Amino acid sequence: MSSPIIEVRDLCKDFVLHTQGGVRIPVFNGLSLAVGAGECVGLHGPSGTGKSTLLRSLYANYKPDTGSVLVRHGDRLVDMATAEPRDVLAVRKHTLGYVSQFLRVIPRVPALDVVAEPLKLLGTSEAEAREKAGGLLARLRIPERLWHLAPATFSGGEQQRVNIARGFVVDYPALLLDEPTASLDAANRDTVVALIQEAKARGCAVVGIFHDADVRTRVCDRLFEIEGYRHAA
Ligand SMILES: Nc1ncnc2c1ncn2[C@@H]1O[C@H](COP(=O)(O)OP(=O)(O)OP(=O)(O)O)[C@@H](O)[C@H]1O
Ligand SMILES: [Mg+2]
Repeated sequence: MSSPIIEVRDLCKDFVLHTQGGVRIPVFNGLSLAVGAGECVGLHGPSGTGKSTLLRSLYANYKPDTGSVLVRHGDRLVDMATAEPRDVLAVRKHTLGYVSQFLRVIPRVPALDVVAEPLKLLGTSEAEAREKAGGLLARLRIPERLWHLAPATFSGGEQQRVNIARGFVVDYPALLLDEPTASLDAANRDTVVALIQEAKARGCAVVGIFHDADVRTRVCDRLFEIEGYRHAA
């Protein structure tokens, strides 16, 4: 592999439940993983093994206890485990996209603007950002009559598709996907598979969690078994 886009080195993460007597929940220990340009790695393992926790640690939503998460950001390497908040925000804006399992609905913001926002933050004109956002919403079969409504009242699958459109509107060098096809019908699943394949073709490094075995085999170049990194409780 040429130099990786994402490189995780020796990552350890425990949760400590301070409000429940300081109970410690060990998640993973000594986890290392490298993902190159154009490659898709599927995080794999039983429920509760730490797949979402790893993805959130890559995005710096969770802070690992030790280890590093190096992301190639322009000509720099940023360690998301220790970076200053402004560097984390810069990486998220330019380099690392994240499609969470559920859309965080912002009240009163229409779907089209929810999707266009990451492009506008990069300085793309309003017209161009909305055009690209509309193109993605159309591909993901969100009827045009919904584009100008806030997604709060949308169905679960509609909200998920708005979330996916938002994640793919910028051509990020790296993408994190947490079960992007979980509540989608077959046609929309195929569209998401196509979006992932297009991202890979332009060199995007993808780390994803895919419960659907068919989706997994279509997009993943390899699986990363997370179970082996569990440490004893
Ligand atoms: N914010 C949190 N605080 C405390 N414990 C947490 C937190 N998030 C996750 N955990 C614990 O960490 C472990 C891993 O959870 P995680 O959500 O990463 O699993 P997962 O592999 O994504 O599971 P699933 O396939 O069910 O989504 C679980 O035991 C969970 O209880
Ligand atoms: Mg999960």
